[in-house]
Amino acid sequence: MSRPAQAQPPFVPAHPPRPEKRGPFWSGFIGERAKSAVSGWSERAFVEPHIKRRLLGWTVQMPFEPASLKRVLLDNQSNYPKPDIVKKLLAPLIGKGLLSSDGTLWRDQRKIVAASFTPPAVDARIDQFTAAARDTAAQWRAGETIDMSSVATGTTMAIIADALFGGDPSLKTPEARAAIEDALVAAGAVRLSAVLGLPTLAWNGKIRRGRRAQRFLRHTLADLVRARGPDGGDDFIGGVIGELRERYEPGEALALAVDNAATFYVAGHETTANLLTWALYLLSEQPDWQAMLAEEARGTALDGDLSAKLPLLRATLDETLRLYPSVPRFDRQAAGEDRLGEYDVATGDIISIWPWVLHRHRALWDEPDRFDPTRFLGARGKAIDRFEYIPFGGGPRTCVGARFSITEALAILATWLTGWRFEALPDRSVMPTGMVTLRPEGGLPLTVMRR
Ligand code: HEM
Repeated sequence: MSRPAQAQPPFVPAHPPRPEKRGPFWSGFIGERAKSAVSGWSERAFVEPHIKRRLLGWTVQMPFEPASLKRVLLDNQSNYPKPDIVKKLLAPLIGKGLLSSDGTLWRDQRKIVAASFTPPAVDARIDQFTAAARDTAAQWRAGETIDMSSVATGTTMAIIADALFGGDPSLKTPEARAAIEDALVAAGAVRLSAVLGLPTLAWNGKIRRGRRAQRFLRHTLADLVRARGPDGGDDFIGGVIGELRERYEPGEALALAVDNAATFYVAGHETTANLLTWALYLLSEQPDWQAMLAEEARGTALDGDLSAKLPLLRATLDETLRLYPSVPRFDRQAAGEDRLGEYDVATGDIISIWPWVLHRHRALWDEPDRFDPTRFLGARGKAIDRFEYIPFGGGPRTCVGARFSITEALAILATWLTGWRFEALPDRSVMPTGMVTLRPEGGLPLTVMRR
């Protein structure tokens, strides 16, 4: 099919207002900024190479130079484990699973799961991804308005339950879905209370609901793991249970199996659902680009390396994750002294890594707020530094599910775009929100039309 050479019409999608100067530190604990990691950033933040602040006894450093990020995430990564405070906050939900462990325990677990996420293992799931996309779309009626944020979550949740947990029905219920949302909202709220020195107080309804949700998810997943017995079974979670039992004594193996079940259940679908949602938002604003992607998808058999077969859709997903990184921040803590560019790092400093700011930084990107998927194509795409674009992190802790989520999103969107057109409602306003993952405030209602 023909490849477009023409430039995109300029389109600057929604982002929160940016005051000229940053507000006082306490403004981060109230109003919109307490709900949204991406609001309240001043214009200045997007030009600074590095921000260093003292906040309630913590020194927080935010590096935006690719060389500094490379040092933290790759070259000197053993000096930068996950912060103790983050591990403590996540422990009730995901314990010491892959995402929240360090050292030997992390290495063992990464080795155990790696085989399930190789390119051939992921590509073998494409039929599962397209079947889920078709099941979802089979319920749509032309002309109706649907919250595509909710649809995306339902679809990716069914996929993760089928792909990793043998389709266990307990993981596809509305209760489980609500519990994940409550647990994520609470994780954001708890982060603030912990910084304020109130780590154990259930000081608002959100946190109490989140605690209940965490308990519900842990019980559901513990029941699922126990019901598998010592051999586990021959799917992903079965393999994890079996391998953990070979390496750890039974009690610890069981606890780690539940930790990883929770890790993969929670990390494995909400992030991809947000990617799908933001991509649909951008495409609903750019109908010509959407039509071109539909044409690309229509002529393509959905198997093998989908990124190679659907380059325009792949560039659109890359651009979506640049503008709306599903994980807008993640953190490390310095185990020893170091230096990042011109900045000294002391033991204990929190290194806060912000794809949200990095991906829109004035020193790194042309017209950073503009939607332009062609920046990821050809020579321009190749010129992007590995550490200026980090939606999946970097170094050895890079997201283990990166290929899974990109392949899943390509398969789902190609299936949907082949048969359907997604139209924006008139006069809508869309704004990113969320402390842990980034979604549109109030969902994403779109009208679906047959193509
Ligand atoms: C658009 C989708 C996704 C995005 C943007 C995303 C983003 C990230 C990021 C930024 C990290 C690194 C965090 C850090 O270094 O502190 C990460 C780690 C991780 N992700 Fe993803 N993720 C996505 C999808 C998935 C999927 C589909 C799965 C599983 C099926 C998954 C499982 C994990 C796990 C287990 C880790 C921890 C890896 C380790 O520490 O070794 N993610 N993800």
